[in-house]
Formats: sequence, C-alpha cells, structure tokens
Amino acid sequence: MARTCLAVVLAAGESTRMKSSMSKVLHPVGNRPMISHVMAALEGAGVDAVALVVGRDAQAVEDTARKHALPLSVYEQTQRLGTGHAVLAARQAIAEGYDDVLVVFGDTPLITGAPLTAAREGLAAGHDVVVIGFQAANPHGYGRLITENGALLAIREEKDASSDERAITYCNGGLMAVRGDKALDLLNRIGNGNAKGEYYLTDLVEIVVALGGSAIAVEAPEQELMGCNTRAELAVIERIWQERRRHDVMLSGVSMIAPETVFLSYDTQFEQDVVIEPHVVFGPGVSVAAGAVIHSFSHIEGATIGPKAEIGPYARLRPGAKLAAKSKVGNFCEVKKSEVGVGAKINHLSYIGDTFIGAGANIGAGTITCNYDGINKHITRIGDNAFVGSNSSLVAPVTIGASSLIASGSVITQDVPDNATAFARSRQENKPGHAEVVRARNAAFKAAKLKADEA
Ligand code: UD1
Ligand code: MG
Repeated sequence: MARTCLAVVLAAGESTRMKSSMSKVLHPVGNRPMISHVMAALEGAGVDAVALVVGRDAQAVEDTARKHALPLSVYEQTQRLGTGHAVLAARQAIAEGYDDVLVVFGDTPLITGAPLTAAREGLAAGHDVVVIGFQAANPHGYGRLITENGALLAIREEKDASSDERAITYCNGGLMAVRGDKALDLLNRIGNGNAKGEYYLTDLVEIVVALGGSAIAVEAPEQELMGCNTRAELAVIERIWQERRRHDVMLSGVSMIAPETVFLSYDTQFEQDVVIEPHVVFGPGVSVAAGAVIHSFSHIEGATIGPKAEIGPYARLRPGAKLAAKSKVGNFCEVKKSEVGVGAKINHLSYIGDTFIGAGANIGAGTITCNYDGINKHITRIGDNAFVGSNSSLVAPVTIGASSLIASGSVITQDVPDNATAFARSRQENKPGHAEVVRARNAAFKAAKLKADEA
C-alpha cells in the first residue's frame, strides 16, 4: 500500500483483573508476550511506525515492543481517562501526518494483519473512520455498532445503551482506522459526558458523522478480536492460538496424532514429514528438520533437531541441544547445550550437558556427564564411534577418544585415547563356594533372633 500508516497501540491499562505483578500485555501467549503478537500483526498490515501508549510497567512494555523492527515512539498516559484520552497521549506522533492512523489494543493478541489491512482499505476508499466489528456470541460489555444502510452512525457503550441498542450483536472490536489528516481534530472533539465519565474513542464515529464525514464497519472473526482481561480469558486465548498454529503446522506437512495435546511456541519451526506423537511440549527456540519423529511426553526447548532424528518417549531437550541427522535421544534422557553427532544414540536414562558427541557414538543407559563442579561448567568430548558402557560417569573436563570403549560402571576422570578401552571401577573378585558360607551364617543368625524373641 502506498499510503503511510501510524499505529497507536494502547497498553496503558492497569490490568487490575489479571491480579498480576506485571502488565497484562506482557503475559505470554504461545510463549510470546501479548504485545509482541500485536506488533507482529502490525508488521503484517504494512504499518510504517508505532506509537506505543504505556502506563503500568512502562519500561518493560517498551523494551518488549522494541524487539520488533518497526520504528517505535513511546508515550506515557499518566491518568487513565479513557481510550480517547489514551490515543491523544500520542498526539505528537499523529501530528507527523500519516495517511492512516490505526488504533489497536495491546491486549488482543489473536489479531492478524488481515482485518487491519481491510480497515486501511476502507480509508483508501474514502471513508474517514473504519471500525473493526464482529458478531458477538455474547455482546455483553462491548460497544454496539449502530448502522444504517451499511453506514456506521455511532458506537454505543454498554453502560450508555438503551435496551433496544443492547439487543444489537454487531459489536466494536475496539480497533479502528482513522483518516490521518482529520484524526487530531476529531480526537480533540471527544468529551466525557457519558455514564463512565471517560473520553471514549468510540465517540469518533458520531463526531465524524455529525461533521458530514463517513464511517463504516468491517467485520472480522470474533476470535481475532478477543481481548484479555482475566487469566481465564488468557487461557481461552491460548487455546485458540494453539489450535490456529497446530492447524497451520499440519497443513505445512507435519503429522500430529492427537494435535489437541501438542503445545507449540510462536517460533517453533518444522520441515515436512515430521511426526509428533501425543503430549509433546515445544518451548521457544525449537526447529525440527524433515522426517524427525518426536515420541510422546517429550519436552523440548531451544533445541535443533536434525533430519530423521528420533526423540523420546519422555525425552527432555534443553536450550543448546543440537541433534544431527538420524541421532536418537530416548526415554528419560536430558540433553542440555550439547551436540549429538550423526547417528549417535543416547537411548536410556542419561544426562548429557555441555558435551560434544561424535557421529555414531553409543552412550549407554544411565551415562551421566558430570559437567558442574559447584562453581563452573566443564566440557565433555566424546569422539566418533565411541562406546560408553552403561552407568558410567564422565567427570568433565574430559575427552573420550574416537572408537574407544568405556567399561560399564566407570567413573572416568582422565582423558581416554582413541581406540583405547578404559576401566575405571574396582575389579571383581569371585570366591568359589562362598555363597554356602553366607547362607549358613544367615540361617544361624535368624535362629538366634527367633529364640531371643520367644524369651
Ligand atoms: C473498549 C471499547 C468498546 C469495545 C471494547 C472491545 C471504548 C470506549 N470502548 O471497551 O466499544 O467493544 O473495547 O474490547 O473504547 N486503555 C488505556 N488508557 C485508558 C483506557 C484504556 O491505555 O485510559 C487501554 C486499555 O489498556 C486496553 C484498551 O485501551 O488495552 C481498551 O480499554 P478497556 O478499558 O478494556 O475498554 P473496554 O471497556 O473493553
Ligand atoms: Mg477491554
């Protein structure tokens, strides 16, 4: 779109009903703060600059918004006098003279670029104000859209509405687009003569109509406009977000046997033919290459999973886990900040931290890398095709040579050369016939005890 656009993002609310020590716009959906979802939607609507209106947790909200590429200016709304008043906090940015001014809320994380673009198209078609509306299943609490022959005449807030108006289900989603050259004049005309004594942004509609201008509403799906006021609403928003993302992921060529049990993050990336079994959680920063299989009950964050790798069931991959092609991390294994080479296997009950594992290495059941001495973390290197016997402890810093063998139960504290076999456990001693001696001793002891108890 050739037209320039400023988005004013309102995020000054107190978040009282969240009962939280932080502003609601910082609460995560899909492991990303709500305000970031809104910023991403603005990027998708071709916005040129953002004016962020902050109140509570101003610095943290600003820092989060700044992680996005859009140019950002920040304004503090010190008194909460209503949505119209909040937009005017960004007066300076609006005065810079954009073609379109979009007003969006920081607590509607399900919004996508599509309705915002549709609202801007309404301005391009010559309307002065375009409101994004929706058909509400339950309109209670929303501003009602008063329309006539396709034109929008007014928005009536619940508390100011007549009973006829309350019966209307076409509601204000809260987001609107205003013609940039008229925006400040219109905003300055908003008064506070209403039931709440607030400056309602929604009054713009009646104001522009009274001045002979034109307002319309464009309809968007209710789910995109859902606002978050309570933790219960946050959970509903999370559910919708997850459903949406799973659907997209499946359409991109990923199989999920029970998608409703799989949890994704905003940045989880998959190639084709990945299979995800039930009950898998993806934290932030995960990418999964083609043909990998994630078995049930695995928890994965900050990990890179190579082609045809196999994870779980019950695997935990922590940040910095990098699994090469066809590698395997099996049940009850934890891998942190470690590289697992092509075809290498860690199949059972292991902790692997700060480790480099070569191609084709086999890490036996119960192997532990002892990477932490209480102060520092140390590195373990395991060469290609090394075989680490079960229940071994590798005390880092330590290097296990390529194609070496580690005897089961070893506590390895020194480097092992390539092709060597390392035993680091006490030698076994067999005493022929000694089991008889032990049994006789035990029987005598038992008899003595019985006698003592009787006495
Ligand atoms: C608003 C709309 C209503 C619409 C509904 C959709 C008005 C007057 N009403 O009502 O028509 O149906 O959203 O969810 O606009 N905020 C500030 N400073 C303020 C007041 C609000 O930053 O002084 C921010 C809030 O943090 C929030 C947003 O503006 O992000 C909306 O405020 P809220 O109080 O939730 O408005 P609603 O009563 O829900
Ligand atoms: Mg609200």
